[in-house]
Amino acid sequence: MSSPLKKDPAWQALAEHAREMSGVHLAKLFADDPARGERFVAEADGIYLDYSKNRVSDETLRLLLKLAEARGLRSRIEAMFRGERINRSEDRPVLHVALRAPAGESIVVDGQDVVPEVHAMLERMAVFSAEVREGHWRGHTGKRIRNVINIGIGGSDLGPAMACQALRHYGAREMALRFVSNVDGTDFVEATRELDPAETLFIVCSKTFTTLETLTNARTARAWSLAALRDEKAVRRHFVAVSTNAAEVSKFGIDPANMFGFWDWVGGRYSLCSAVGLSLMISIGAESFRAMLAGFHAIDRHFLGAPLEKNLPVLMGLISLWYNEFFGAQCTAVLPYEQYLARLPAYLQQLVMESNGKQVTLDGARVDYQTSPVVWGEPGTNGQHSFYQMLHQGTRLVPCDLIGFCKPLNPLDGHHDLLLANLFAQAEALAFGRPADPKAPQRGFEGNRPSNTILLDQLTPRTLGSLIALYEHSVFTQGAIWDIDSFDQWGVELGKVLAQRIAGELQDPEAGAAQHDSSTAALLRRYMRLRL
Ligand code: F6P
Repeated sequence: MSSPLKKDPAWQALAEHAREMSGVHLAKLFADDPARGERFVAEADGIYLDYSKNRVSDETLRLLLKLAEARGLRSRIEAMFRGERINRSEDRPVLHVALRAPAGESIVVDGQDVVPEVHAMLERMAVFSAEVREGHWRGHTGKRIRNVINIGIGGSDLGPAMACQALRHYGAREMALRFVSNVDGTDFVEATRELDPAETLFIVCSKTFTTLETLTNARTARAWSLAALRDEKAVRRHFVAVSTNAAEVSKFGIDPANMFGFWDWVGGRYSLCSAVGLSLMISIGAESFRAMLAGFHAIDRHFLGAPLEKNLPVLMGLISLWYNEFFGAQCTAVLPYEQYLARLPAYLQQLVMESNGKQVTLDGARVDYQTSPVVWGEPGTNGQHSFYQMLHQGTRLVPCDLIGFCKPLNPLDGHHDLLLANLFAQAEALAFGRPADPKAPQRGFEGNRPSNTILLDQLTPRTLGSLIALYEHSVFTQGAIWDIDSFDQWGVELGKVLAQRIAGELQDPEAGAAQHDSSTAALLRRYMRLRL
């Protein structure tokens, strides 16, 4: 018995059409339609999406859009914006879009308009960040804060870490912004090595405030601070929390007055625009932070209002799904031609794979189609001297997103033209290849390797916001078609439970007699014999 998705006539038409398209080369699609490069494009809020170098025809797009309609994409989008409880397994609304709604808009959750609360929190963050940036918020000994360390993991780390790096050009240079996430002690030690505790502010960032890694690092941070400052009262000047869990925050010893809250309708990987972005706001200032929110919001409105055939996140989501389902593609490469976006692929890994790496539908039925692709990538041009060999001549199909900006932030003579020349050249080489010389088959490029080119004016807070929202909503589009819950993450639970159990056994070797498979048991015995 096939799933409702596979039984959908639109799906079946796509499967049939994919057989026809599998033999069609991009070179032919371009030869048949000289205007293709201008027709297969879409634009919104300064994002120019060229999707012409994809193995799609007008008919492909018509069928993909038909599938989106048949699967109720439009009504699912509206349900999210209306605050319906679309995160079904956790029975929660999904309202990261409310985090960037302008004052005056209204989004109601359980009878209450949440937009005023969002703006009140943004205002508190703005006041606090200005105090830190301007040196009014002093450490316990009266010294100015020069180092800000965000302690968090997953969505409480990747968003602010990626964005702080992305917007470094706009950030306060006199302050060191660092991120500690891993429970590996090296992360903490290296982040704090040459810092003065009297000048260091920790932001303990955790939605639940129960995450093992974050609490372990936060305890270590407190011990590190107090070892130097020698007064419990110092915690008030050196620790603030970002969380939804006030009880656990005060249990940890952080003054609730120093807590910046958010709401359970904000998923961790969608939380950059909430108080989770506090470290970013300290770095770039409230005005730039608000400009980023405006970029997010512009794409939110576009996603909600633009017709599906001109809707950038919808097009990107559908085209990616096309390869995932009908061409056996297992991954997507994200290739920013912008060094400041070096952490974007890592950020998107959580966004895409934690959202859509699911095996059951909203009703709990096992899916019989592929869900999330694997996401990976590195900035260009570096990747070109590493894994692009496989992209061009390997046996797997890897759809790529190449992201570039027309204006550089660091215009060194000649660099930017070379950077962008490489981006355009790679997209061209992937698509069209080069005929093989029978005497040197190793030099042949088959081409027909698909890519999107995403071109923006310049990397600014606003364009970064738009770019992230583009990916967020493309993830939504795919999840809606797959009929999965893109907003839960039960797949991370089992490892956490087992790690807690094993950690207990490591403290008490007798308890280590608990049942384990022979491999795990032998590894544990060896570790206990050899550890410090
Ligand atoms: O383990 C996965 C996860 O729950 C992510 O979804 C989340 O972003 C991360 O852990 C951190 O969670 P928290 O913010 O509650 O510490």
